[in-house]
Amino acid sequence: MNQQHLPEKKALNWAELGFQYQSTEYRFRAVHRNGEWSEGELITDKMISVHEGAPALHYAQQCFEGLKAQTAPDGRVLLFRPDLNAERMRQAAGRLLMPHVPEELFIKGVESAVRANYAWIPPHGSGAALYIRPMLIGVGENLGLKTAKEFEFRVFVSPVGPYYKSAGLATISLAVSDLDRAAPAGTGNYKIGANYAGGLLATRQAQELGANEALFLDARERRYIDEAGSANIVVAMTGGRFVTPGSSAVLPSVTRRSIMALAEQELGLKTEQRGIDLRGEIADFEEVAACGTAAVISPVGKILVDGNWHSFYGNGEEPGPITQKLYELLVGIQRGEIADKYHWTHEVSI
Ligand code: PLP
Ligand code: COI
Repeated sequence: MNQQHLPEKKALNWAELGFQYQSTEYRFRAVHRNGEWSEGELITDKMISVHEGAPALHYAQQCFEGLKAQTAPDGRVLLFRPDLNAERMRQAAGRLLMPHVPEELFIKGVESAVRANYAWIPPHGSGAALYIRPMLIGVGENLGLKTAKEFEFRVFVSPVGPYYKSAGLATISLAVSDLDRAAPAGTGNYKIGANYAGGLLATRQAQELGANEALFLDARERRYIDEAGSANIVVAMTGGRFVTPGSSAVLPSVTRRSIMALAEQELGLKTEQRGIDLRGEIADFEEVAACGTAAVISPVGKILVDGNWHSFYGNGEEPGPITQKLYELLVGIQRGEIADKYHWTHEVSI
């Protein structure tokens, strides 16, 4: 699109946005019937009409993704590693016996929804981003426990601000949950709705204890850190070590993968992916952070373990220097402010 003819941005107070659904004009929709995907199209109807027996409704045969589009200083619109989201949705579809969304269709859906809603993409410097939610659901008439015969792939977008109420790099707190999120050979490493429904009560309980989120331990021994309800965990430990759980039951986070690379290659830290024995190692934690598309890098100031709060850098009230640096690097690349030497950004032509 010619720069002169770009649609005018919406008159939103971008800096005040939270993480809420904001309706935009267009969404992308493709359907899978008789073994084939339709080409897909942009539609305006935000409602989905499905059969009352749809397997997505009864047996949670559905998966989803989450990524963001951001505006660079020169106006380019950038996605962050969308190929990894496409691959993760492929894995989830396979686990739930759904047809996979080919990478080209996934990227086409994401790009089309972003481009069509250009007016809703927060401008550079606003601190906000366009959150993109691709989803794949099993629809069509059904009753018994079996895979759907028809599927819908949909992508909608919504401008968002910070996931946690406190903006920017303010610290959050976590409370260890007595509930399990995912079994060792279950579905914890797939981005599927069923994992999140089971976590709602844990989040509420954590909030009742004064924390932002639940922290889940491994379900087998309740000893090793798995992850938070909507983000992975990274820990800067004594001795220049930068560690993240090796658990196979956590979501393989695109953000975490990127942060681990930055910690090693840009900060020269010794990175490790291994079991982190929470009670046994917490005394060595210097900085803790929760990371994800929505959470970005949120410094964790304190964790409630067995009724006692443990706080980290700066008495838990401010981000530590490693978290700060990683945030600046990651967000700088995502927003096109820092040279993208890892080739992580993907421009959406407008
Ligand atoms: N863990 C859970 C449970 C999540 O919901 C998310 C969010 O997507 C993440 C981790 C972070 O993953 P990503 O960095 O790919 O967004
Ligand atoms: C994301 O970070 O993209 C997520 O999907 C987390 C979700 C709970 C908002």
